[in-house]
Amino acid sequence: MTFQEQILQGIPPVLPAKREIPKDANRAPKRKDILTVEEKQLAVRNALRYFPKEWHKELAVEFAQELNDFGRIYMYRFKPEYKMYARPIEEYPAKCKQAAAIMLMIQNNLDPAVAQHPEELITYGGNGAVFQNWAQYLLTMQYLAIMTDEQTLNMYSGHPMGLFPSSKEAPRVVVTNGMVIPNYSSPDHWEKFNALGVSQYGQMTAGSYMYIGPQGIVHGTTITVMNAFRKKLSKGESTKGKIFLTAGLGGMSGAQPKAGNIAGCITICAEVNPKAAQKRHQQGWVDVLVDNMEALVARVKQAQANEEVVSIAYIGNVVDIWEQFDKENIFIHIGSDQTSLHIPWTGGYYPVGLSYEESNRLIREEPEVFKVKVQESLRRHAAAINRHTAKGTYFFDYGNAFLLEASRAGADIMAPNGIDFRYPSYVQDILGPMCFDYGFGPFRWVCASGKPEDLDQTDAIAMHVLEDIMANSPEEIQLQMQDNITWIRDAKKNKMVVGSQARILYADALGRMRIAEAFNKAIAQGKIGPVVLGRDHHDVSGTDSPYRETSNIYDGSKFTADMAIQNVIGDSFRGATWVSIHNGGGVGWGEVINGGFGMLLDGTPEADVRLKRMLFYDVNNGIARRSWARNSEALFAIKREMERTPELKVTLPNLVDDDTLSNLF
Ligand SMILES: NC(=O)c1ccc[n+]([C@@H]2O[C@H](COP(=O)([O-])OP(=O)(O)OC[C@H]3O[C@@H](n4cnc5c(N)ncnc54)[C@H](O)[C@@H]3O)[C@@H](O)[C@H]2O)c1
Repeated sequence: MTFQEQILQGIPPVLPAKREIPKDANRAPKRKDILTVEEKQLAVRNALRYFPKEWHKELAVEFAQELNDFGRIYMYRFKPEYKMYARPIEEYPAKCKQAAAIMLMIQNNLDPAVAQHPEELITYGGNGAVFQNWAQYLLTMQYLAIMTDEQTLNMYSGHPMGLFPSSKEAPRVVVTNGMVIPNYSSPDHWEKFNALGVSQYGQMTAGSYMYIGPQGIVHGTTITVMNAFRKKLSKGESTKGKIFLTAGLGGMSGAQPKAGNIAGCITICAEVNPKAAQKRHQQGWVDVLVDNMEALVARVKQAQANEEVVSIAYIGNVVDIWEQFDKENIFIHIGSDQTSLHIPWTGGYYPVGLSYEESNRLIREEPEVFKVKVQESLRRHAAAINRHTAKGTYFFDYGNAFLLEASRAGADIMAPNGIDFRYPSYVQDILGPMCFDYGFGPFRWVCASGKPEDLDQTDAIAMHVLEDIMANSPEEIQLQMQDNITWIRDAKKNKMVVGSQARILYADALGRMRIAEAFNKAIAQGKIGPVVLGRDHHDVSGTDSPYRETSNIYDGSKFTADMAIQNVIGDSFRGATWVSIHNGGGVGWGEVINGGFGMLLDGTPEADVRLKRMLFYDVNNGIARRSWARNSEALFAIKREMERTPELKVTLPNLVDDDTLSNLF
């Protein structure tokens, strides 16, 4: 059977043979055994509803086994035989091009070269799922293949509920992931609902078909590291020979040394898992591998003396470095952490003083003891950081819940007011005021032809557009414009394309609209094939997350999620090809609501109307909310936008003098 025929058949009419899972597959960890016996029966009953009754007896035993062995029912048997990767758009069997574009993006998220645990349909972040099981994948692809441009597919946490009549202007797909009633949003609720097969953790771009591999995170991390140095160094001072200390060489944290090199400093990145460190070294993402403290200190001193641009992986615990560098009086200019503290008790954070193997044993056999060790370690970790910051180090939380978990562990991490943390999150200090409040965020595109030449052309188009805009940009955003022009100029050189021909580029509303408009024109002229636009959810307007994307909102509204919900609804009727809204992602289940979109540019005049309408809103919705929260950069940006766009009328805050409030209560 051809690839097209297999897509069109959906769930095969004959029960496929049981599959052997490839030995070298990177498998998802066994999930918590959380269901009661009755609930396990319910989970199997739920899984069997995808299949005809004649198969139930055989599949029931197999699915029960999967539940016992892996904590989930993935339906491995139904994974298709064909190769999984983003094919050129015309290879998809589809009645409308928009649906074909979505199929391409789904397959990219499941490509073994891109996905973290492809057998379990996990794209990144350990639990960022595209689907819960292979039956959902097969059905979804079939629906996309048969849908017309007057139908919309509803996706409930990976489950395709069905095609509903809509209109040409409506999104082709509406995705919700992990949306639960707020009182049922603890991490164990996720374990339970996911094991039952009724909800999933979509992370951000996993469950919304918009992941583009590591370049997304490299660009964001580079911008963060460069701007963190700007906070520490005097104007014009070089980053050469200056130290950035951090931890984690995993899925996303592995971007840190590469970003450090692009920013031009000495990066030291601790990683307790030797395999993770070696992998990043082999991939060329980190320059030097060191496995003992003495060698690390010597290598760092050498790098300082020679003002080298170099990244060093230290196989060991990051707390040991913070403590040793304090004793050695090695000055750290900027410090952060990207261990997986959003999941502290299951291997996200390894406590100091224990070997990697011993920690893993405790996680399995003595989880309560492990928890105590993690908390002790976090207190030591914070104390060492405090000693460095007293000497002048700039420390920031990198959105991994470090400060949150350290505070829960009783570490000395609170500000004198007892409410705030002693250190800022990277969004509070860096990305929020310097990027999001002006509308700059992780815009991205994928060339649906699959041709590298198309990507080259889009890079060139985007660079010219930004240069053109920069010529008339106000002083306030010149630095950001220049950083983004530099990024796109060198993007190809950084060789970061994995899977689809994709590019990320921080841009503001005007930049995104003008770049998209120029792409659409190039498509109409036949210079390039169709292009899919999107963005990371980690952006200006898409995400409400009080300790990350909206941590620089100070009017008390950072625990609300109106912005993310308004955004997904607003994008959906302004021309998005698909929209998504998720609970969880990055900082953990129940901690964030985040949304995104995808939009196909096909060179038509309709696409031109859609892109302007939607991209304008997709950025300015968030700037409006940020300006209402009195953020000065956002006030500047929204006033400028209102001057440019008379139809935009945003409620502006009146600022209150401190004196007016001081003696009121
Ligand atoms: N701010 C952002 O833009 C952003 C982006 C990506 C990830 N994050 C957050 O960063 C965290 C890391 O993400 P990831 O995908 O790289 O996770 P990951 O689990 O793949 O990697 C984390 C790594 O840290 C290592 N580690 C744990 N404890 C350690 C310790 N004490 N010392 C040294 N190494 C240790 C682990 O072995 C692991 O390899 C997550 O919490 C994620 O949500 C934030």
